[in-house]
Amino acid sequence: MTRSLLRGRTLSFHRFPQSADDLAACSYVEDGAVLIDNGSIVASGTYDEIAPMASDATVIDHRPNLILPGFVDCHAHCPQMQVIASYGAELLDWLNKYTFPEETKFANPQHSRRIARQFLDELIRYGTTSVVAYCSVHKSSAEAFFAESDARNMLNVAGKVMMDRNAPAGVLDTPQSSYDDTKALIAEWHGKGRQHYAVTPRFAITSSPEQMEMAGALMREHPGLHMQTHLSENHAEIAYTCELYPQAKDYTDVYDRYGLLGPRSLFGHAIHLSERERDALSDSGSVAVFCPTSNLFLGSGLFPYQENRSRTKPLRIATATDVGGGTNYSMLRTMDEAYKIIALQGEKLNPLASFWQITRGNAEALSLANRIGTLEAGTDADIVILDARATPAMRLRMETVETLAEELFLLQTLGDDRAVVEVYIAGKPAKSDLGTN
Ligand code: GUN
Ligand code: ZN
Repeated sequence: MTRSLLRGRTLSFHRFPQSADDLAACSYVEDGAVLIDNGSIVASGTYDEIAPMASDATVIDHRPNLILPGFVDCHAHCPQMQVIASYGAELLDWLNKYTFPEETKFANPQHSRRIARQFLDELIRYGTTSVVAYCSVHKSSAEAFFAESDARNMLNVAGKVMMDRNAPAGVLDTPQSSYDDTKALIAEWHGKGRQHYAVTPRFAITSSPEQMEMAGALMREHPGLHMQTHLSENHAEIAYTCELYPQAKDYTDVYDRYGLLGPRSLFGHAIHLSERERDALSDSGSVAVFCPTSNLFLGSGLFPYQENRSRTKPLRIATATDVGGGTNYSMLRTMDEAYKIIALQGEKLNPLASFWQITRGNAEALSLANRIGTLEAGTDADIVILDARATPAMRLRMETVETLAEELFLLQTLGDDRAVVEVYIAGKPAKSDLGTN
């Protein structure tokens, strides 16, 4: 495979940036270069340093654009592409009225394949190179997702949802069938190429205690797997969960009782948590996934991002689109809404921290920063190229921009897929390669 050298303004983070001036948190190189060989980054630094090592490489000149690690979306629902933009409901009604009926269609493998293809196309178009995805309850929907992900050589984490009650028959499994299907999917896909399996009990309302036991057993039998579910998104959901699990101390304790907390456990939303619940998440190293556009769209609430980060026992936090409760595939649009949610709580999220979050921060939340989320040598070459002058309005605003932090904030505030010039997946151009479907 030929080597390639990307030239441009490289930006990669080492740690959380404390302020918009905290440039020590990142490597930013005005005339930078990334050398790619066989899907991996073999070197990054200044163009003058790297070019002599790359006389055989094809040079792709992205100047004056930014070269960043590809974005990581830590929670999205593949089968909800035709649910996005469904009007007028809060969580439980939205699930019953729109989402569950839509997900019944994924019993059809052909439909699953079509949507999996469109879903990954769309994410790539917006600069996302890794996603943590929920498939439908049907085994074939996870098979379609992984087949499509593997064919593109993407590093994705996904699982078939386990749900055996409180939903229409067309989206229900049983404790035993969900265990058997999950086992078979793990055997077939986990560790195949760049694929990772996540055990996926949808949430406590749609899983019986027997199914939760099965989810716990799967996690014990397969150490190192991710687990994903929903937690404390909406007040009616919390009240119903506590009715269904009267022995539990609170919603978080429901998952704790079945051994589902831990450093690879991802809890979508996690908005309305008590101090006890936050301590339990923090003590176990569990991750709270902030889904700004969804939390606003469904009227769920304001995730306390800064408070969760700065408490004595801080939470590990990821960010995500939560398509189709979320309203956009873009991690730029997601962080724009995150900024506003944080502002409503009297705080600010600095632009360097935003871009840390959607690259290295989300990779760290997945315990995958040794593979994705940075431009460091030895990691996978998943890369996004960003143009802060992509639209007339952006170009005009850029005339007054003086710092990197200002440019990033402009990208976050006005940017979307139009600002994504190119995407590389394991070193191969992926956005320019998309069909026009
Ligand atoms: N809780 C259980 N399922 C879902 C879902 O599909 N979307 C959201 N936003 N919350 C959920
Ligand atoms: Zn969700």
